[in-house]
Amino acid sequence: MADSNKTATLTFDNKSFELPMHSPTAGPDVIDIGKLYGQADVFTFDPGFTSTAACASTITFIDGDKGELLHRGYPIDQLAEKSHFLEVCYLLLYGELPTAEQLEDFENRVTLHTMLHEQMTYFYRGFRRDAHPMAVMVGVVGAMSAFYHDSTDINDPWQREVASIRLIAKMPTIAAWAYKYHIGQPFVYPRNDLDYASNFLRMCFSVPAEEYEVNPILSRAMDRIFTLHADHEQNASTSTVRLASSSGANPFACIAAGIACLWGPAHGGANQACLEMLREIGTPDRIPEFIERAKDRNDPFRLMGFGHRVYKNFDPRAKVMKQSADEVLELLGIEDNPTLQTAKELEKIALEDDYFIDKKLYPNVDFYSGIILDAMGFPTSMFTPIFALARTVGWVAQWKEQLSDPAHKIGRPRQLYTGKTFRDYVEVENR
Ligand code: SDX
Repeated sequence: MADSNKTATLTFDNKSFELPMHSPTAGPDVIDIGKLYGQADVFTFDPGFTSTAACASTITFIDGDKGELLHRGYPIDQLAEKSHFLEVCYLLLYGELPTAEQLEDFENRVTLHTMLHEQMTYFYRGFRRDAHPMAVMVGVVGAMSAFYHDSTDINDPWQREVASIRLIAKMPTIAAWAYKYHIGQPFVYPRNDLDYASNFLRMCFSVPAEEYEVNPILSRAMDRIFTLHADHEQNASTSTVRLASSSGANPFACIAAGIACLWGPAHGGANQACLEMLREIGTPDRIPEFIERAKDRNDPFRLMGFGHRVYKNFDPRAKVMKQSADEVLELLGIEDNPTLQTAKELEKIALEDDYFIDKKLYPNVDFYSGIILDAMGFPTSMFTPIFALARTVGWVAQWKEQLSDPAHKIGRPRQLYTGKTFRDYVEVENR
């Protein structure tokens, strides 16, 4: 973070305060208000953090106007096309693309941590079978701190590294077992001879009664979906992980907090909500009805998979996801999938509508992902667990970055208080 030679002047009540500024390597300058309250006895007010940088970071940069997403400087469309998820994990965690030897070592370390403590199989059995898989993931990941005590000390760099690898390696097993438990099928153990995405697909879809061959088309599509969801700057769930970590909470508790936040339909839960919306629309002739509902300020309905706090142009991930949806469904021979046709028609109509144009609402990462996951055979209840599986590396990378900053402190926002001022207690007989 470069200190800028610029300063900002805040003037009110005939008083002026000079505030330092910092210059980024990309994006807007920031005004440092860390000492404002002490100097001027005022707070700033930004409930949705629309204009607030909560931290300095070197991991991911988003330019919402250009529709640009960079991971350690590399654009997401190039990573999605030329890289693969575990290589992107290495890049996010360590800052550089790995050499062939570094990549092999990293992939081996991940592969050797994919199994869960056998006692955790009993932890799953405490849930009802119809529990939402996200509820299971929040519980199981949080419970990891009760099974992996030797990687909970956040002040030990080695334990931080072990916890990072364990979380990335075990999340596919945890998510797959949440699915198997949900559908009443036996858990399938990971295999060391399979790549990350193939292992996940096999743990989800194979059964002991017959051999299972991973479809390479689906495995490549799954790996690309993981890459597209890996990290995304200071989104709500990443900010949740950072805030939880600021109190010194163990890594498993912090990631469980991130999973809980991601579940919301305004965030990671949108992929499930979007496919359910597309199914409710059913056929393109019903699209105008839903467009009108989305525009009606008195109707809480929103077009799921549309809009974004940062992207005011296209979401580059949505472009790649749309291309992948076309490829996967064509290769599977279901290119005339009615849900995909409805999605494309909805996108076309919405992007020609003044409401969406004026409010800069475009398809986001969740708009097409559900169509691919549905074609792969996943129920909508598994869409957000898959998002959580992929985002774990982003959460972990951001968690490690925050802990490596010696200046980091507990996050403790203040408030604009609008409640009752001081008043004495009134006995019940006098009320
Ligand atoms: C993710 O932050 C991240 O990076 C998240 C994410 C990641 O990778 O981590 O990218 C993943 O969460 C993607 C977003 C998935 N959510 C959805 O698809 C749900 C539908 N979208 C919206 O709820 C909304 O667009 C948000 C939550 C995504 C963004 O909301 P903002 O930035 O707070 O914007 P807003 O709610 O203030 O909307 C601005 C205007 C409003 O109208 P006015 O009050 O100004 O009249 O646009 C309208 C909104 O009503 N609007 C929509 C809309 N999204 C915004 N109207 C209809 N349909 C929508 N989808």
